[in-house]
Amino acid sequence: MKKLTHKLAVTTALVSTLILGAANVQAQPTAEVLHYWTSGGEAKAVKALKEDFEANGGKWVDAPVAGGGGDAQAAVLRSRVLSGNPPAAVQIKGPNIQEWAEAGALGDLTQLGKQEGWDNVLPPLLQDIVKHDGKYVAVPVNIHRVDWIWINPEALEKVGGKPPRTWDEFNTLADKLQAAGIIPLAHGGQPWQDATVFETVALGIGGAEFFNKAFVELDADTLKSDTMVKVFDQMRKMRGYVDADFPGRDWNLATSMVMRGEAGMQIMGDWAKGEFIAAGKKPGKDFLCIPTPSNGGYILNSDSFAMFNVTNEDDKAGQTLLASLILGEKFQETFNLFKGSIPARMGVSPDKFDECAVKSMVDLQVSSKAGSLVGSVAHEIAASGAVRGAVLDVVTEHFNSDMTSEAAVARLAESIELAE
Ligand code: GAL
Repeated sequence: MKKLTHKLAVTTALVSTLILGAANVQAQPTAEVLHYWTSGGEAKAVKALKEDFEANGGKWVDAPVAGGGGDAQAAVLRSRVLSGNPPAAVQIKGPNIQEWAEAGALGDLTQLGKQEGWDNVLPPLLQDIVKHDGKYVAVPVNIHRVDWIWINPEALEKVGGKPPRTWDEFNTLADKLQAAGIIPLAHGGQPWQDATVFETVALGIGGAEFFNKAFVELDADTLKSDTMVKVFDQMRKMRGYVDADFPGRDWNLATSMVMRGEAGMQIMGDWAKGEFIAAGKKPGKDFLCIPTPSNGGYILNSDSFAMFNVTNEDDKAGQTLLASLILGEKFQETFNLFKGSIPARMGVSPDKFDECAVKSMVDLQVSSKAGSLVGSVAHEIAASGAVRGAVLDVVTEHFNSDMTSEAAVARLAESIELAE
């Protein structure tokens, strides 16, 4: 018995020393970061954020969830929050931010925003996305453009083609590529990718006013219009331009098909440029970037980090440090050069950005003034999660079946009406 008491005393002394020791350790800003940036270019971009955070004394806890477009991550986030164990920082955007803020799950960054003058460096468009009831609840990291065609210049030259300015020219080029034995359109058969192609076609064939009436105002007549039938007619053509192995392919594997010249084109947001850059490719030489055919349109996507409610002081300090770093001028340049996007922060020098990024910067301003700038539906900017889900479901079903355009239009209008 005596021996046991002695052991107990020693153990107690040891444990209390450890606790005291721990209490004296300098508090360290800590952030568990949930994101889905796992491809080549994405990983380099998120590594830049991690290194910046650690260089400033932060402890980064990486929580990647593979799966482009973020649908896999969204499921993980919901289970983490519902189990009362949210990550400190999460890569979310658009109405998702508003929905989580409405649920009271997000911290308030307004004080930090005031100290750092975010109102003066963020365009009103992004402020609307990251504020809820006038308070900052997230911080934007970039502006991605969705409506791009990435082209292999050798394939283009091989068939004597030219970058398409209309959807008829796109189809003519695709037919030439197909006749030459080159896959016209590199594509991954995942709902968010099908919807990415769909929204560029909808903007191109219907225009910005049609796009907003259909997917933001959810106007029934617009959803059921002949124009929407034409959009699905073009999607049926697109289905004929992808290879037999497209189902389930990840978007970055489709990008590498264009890099290798196995395919002539890919329609994807400019995170695809991050893959070309990560592979050492040069725009204008190894690949071409041209907007998908439209009347001066621009489909905007913007990634943000929302800080979820945490109780631990180190986690709170980590959130403040992370939010502050994300909008720093130097970081905004470094991150976006890797990511393929352009800075969320206004006034960052364009000098280090390539021709694709500069075109995105210019077209963003021009389309904003012309009223032809729209928010992405496929990438969770313009529509609620329910409406986005309806679009993804119908577009994917149509793309993977012999559903007629008329049936798809009817199904889309019906699904969106139910999602409202
Ligand atoms: C988008 C996201 C981009 C990129 C892409 C592919 O939704 O905004 O940053 O990650 O998905 O995963």
